[in-house]
Amino acid sequence: MKDRVVQKGVFQAEVLSNQQIRHCYYRLNLILDPQGSRFFETVTPGQFLQLDLSGVSLPNQKLIPDNLKDSANRQIILRRPFSFSDVVVTPSLEGPSVKIEIMYCILGPATIRMMSLKKGDTVNVLGPLGSGFSIPQNFQNALLIAGGMGSPPILHLAGHLKRHCPEMNIVSFIGAKDCENLPFAIKIDNLKGLVLEEFELVRVPSHIATDDGSAGFDGYVTDCMRHWLEKESIDPSVSAVFACGPEAMLAATARLAKDFSLPCQVSMERMMACGIGLCQSCAVETKTAADHTEYQLCCKNGPVFDAEKVVFRI
Ligand SMILES: Cc1cc2nc3c(=O)[nH]c(=O)nc-3n(C[C@H](O)[C@H](O)[C@H](O)COP(=O)(O)OP(=O)(O)OC[C@H]3O[C@@H](n4cnc5c(N)ncnc54)[C@H](O)[C@@H]3O)c2cc1C
Ligand code: FES
Repeated sequence: MKDRVVQKGVFQAEVLSNQQIRHCYYRLNLILDPQGSRFFETVTPGQFLQLDLSGVSLPNQKLIPDNLKDSANRQIILRRPFSFSDVVVTPSLEGPSVKIEIMYCILGPATIRMMSLKKGDTVNVLGPLGSGFSIPQNFQNALLIAGGMGSPPILHLAGHLKRHCPEMNIVSFIGAKDCENLPFAIKIDNLKGLVLEEFELVRVPSHIATDDGSAGFDGYVTDCMRHWLEKESIDPSVSAVFACGPEAMLAATARLAKDFSLPCQVSMERMMACGIGLCQSCAVETKTAADHTEYQLCCKNGPVFDAEKVVFRI
């Protein structure tokens, strides 16, 4: 994966909408100020931003899940990283206007506060950060795979590829523990069976997998993709896998891609204190020569890495 210098900055963004998608998943739409728009117009899927949520107040107690009522009151000192599920650039003579969409899952004090953001509020963003998925030249098949909250950058990639490479065959595999934990709306299609509405909107076929079999394929999303690969014969020299999700899923995807000789890029997740390469909290062990490894920074050299280079200790 080639390193590139990312132009980043701190900007204000205005909230356009903030809606619950299902269960504990929400979708936040922001529009960047004119200066921020100039920096964010070249964002690629897999990149991310850091949100400052320290000044955002708690929502009504009734909205806070019971298991998070205690942690909700924790002070928020650090910014929180989020990927994009979509980025829309509208060019104009005065400069671009950039709208970004973030899908988030309620997990702790910062994401609880995000629930109370409403139209017209402003939030402070730092970005764009990191190095996103790189799109190989002249390839034909993109296999997208995501687990749980790894889905937003994969949805962004699906839309991006559809817009920029309309001839490409794109197929997605989205997994979660159970139906409740799928971060998208499920729809029944007469011909295709269960599909994900957000992927239908960008015209990318979706395969659903749940660990407990409550929706779609009964089992891990990587097994779902393995079955598909066994049935389809795709040429690995013009195909690639793009993955985002929990580390165990990424490790399984890396092994699966290797079994089918497919190049694979994985978007890694780490706890990130600064997001800009200063604190060293986000190390990812990577392979250098035959039996050497080195640590790279997930926020700066990643979060997307070549799967073959990552040392998975899972
Ligand atoms: C590059 C990147 C992109 C991300 N994109 C998204 C996104 O699009 N949508 C989304 O909902 N979340 C995303 N996350 C995760 C998001 O940053 C965390 O959910 C958020 O920081 C939680 O903040 P909190 O204060 O609500 O909860 P916290 O109290 O900070 O965390 C709640 C729990 O989640 C765990 N956790 C938090 N962050 C991480 C992490 N990075 N890796 C592993 N475990 C973690 C904590 O250990 C804790 O158990 C992303 C993280 C990274 C590094
Ligand atoms: S988050 Fe600080 S160096 Fe990566």
